[in-house]
Amino acid sequence: MATAPETRTSLFGKVRMGYALVESEKHQDWLRFTRDALGLDVHREDDTLICRLDNHARRLLICQGPQEDMLALGYELADQASLDTVLQRLRDKGVAVEAGDACGAALRGVEQYWRCRGPKALAIEFYVTPLLSDKPLSMLASGYVTGEAGMGHVAITSRRPEAVQAFWQEILDARHSDDIEQRIGGLMLDIRFLRLNPRHHSVAIACTRGRRMDPIRTRIQHMNVQCATLEDMTAAFQRCRRLGYRIMMGVGQHTNDRELSFYVQSPSGFEIEYGWDPIAVDESSWQPTLHQGISTWGHQPLDHNLMDELRQITRAARSLLRSEYIPFEPGH
Ligand SMILES: [Fe+2]
Repeated sequence: MATAPETRTSLFGKVRMGYALVESEKHQDWLRFTRDALGLDVHREDDTLICRLDNHARRLLICQGPQEDMLALGYELADQASLDTVLQRLRDKGVAVEAGDACGAALRGVEQYWRCRGPKALAIEFYVTPLLSDKPLSMLASGYVTGEAGMGHVAITSRRPEAVQAFWQEILDARHSDDIEQRIGGLMLDIRFLRLNPRHHSVAIACTRGRRMDPIRTRIQHMNVQCATLEDMTAAFQRCRRLGYRIMMGVGQHTNDRELSFYVQSPSGFEIEYGWDPIAVDESSWQPTLHQGISTWGHQPLDHNLMDELRQITRAARSLLRSEYIPFEPGH
């Protein structure tokens, strides 16, 4: 008797970005940046800065340590079955998965978590149950949009974009939202946008066309948070400017998700995109398209200078000498 073909249960809509873990030596600067410039709810516990945006006890964590970089991203799964599926898929691909300990779970504000080494050696972590807090938020913005779409998105530059894409597609059933081609200096950049839920994208992957180079030192190029109102965004922009943080791109609007945002450099070097009102994807009618350029207007570099350009060119050239870590080859 013929057996029915095995159907794969999709995780689309059951995954959202839940927390981000940064390591830095610049705690005073991170405190000022997150609390006074971005306007998040921030408190210090031992050697860790804990930032809240909503009813989750912990969303952005800055730990003491020598790497000025994003160490880990936590993805929240809708239920235990979804988590089991993710862990099984990773094991099937030969990716080592380890259970986090109680101390790590407390740090991240989750009941339990599992972790693997993801693209660019960024730890990718998975959990089901976040710890919530009913303590009133003390922050300068009126609120942040999280919920089923998660806390925002990250953008990653890569020399192995197919493998980075495969990680989110083959493990988490990410869907292709659209693409942007953007000319920067003499280089053409291809950016692919992937979604895990109604948020237009949870991950963006950028690569140089032709000879692939990576001009970015940190594992992520930027992390986005979505504030509730236009006034929240413009007030954050003014605070960042007033406090002297470098605005890498001023206020503008993106071509694909229509989000209004600005980009500010964090104390660890990667950028925070502070945005408002991106579109949500309607699965019944969405078609991926190719957009020319990242912005319909604005997003002008305000504090970007020749030294930044030179540094990026040097890093891009040096990246040719290094290999980039990928957890598995696409399709395997
Ligand atoms: Fe972004």
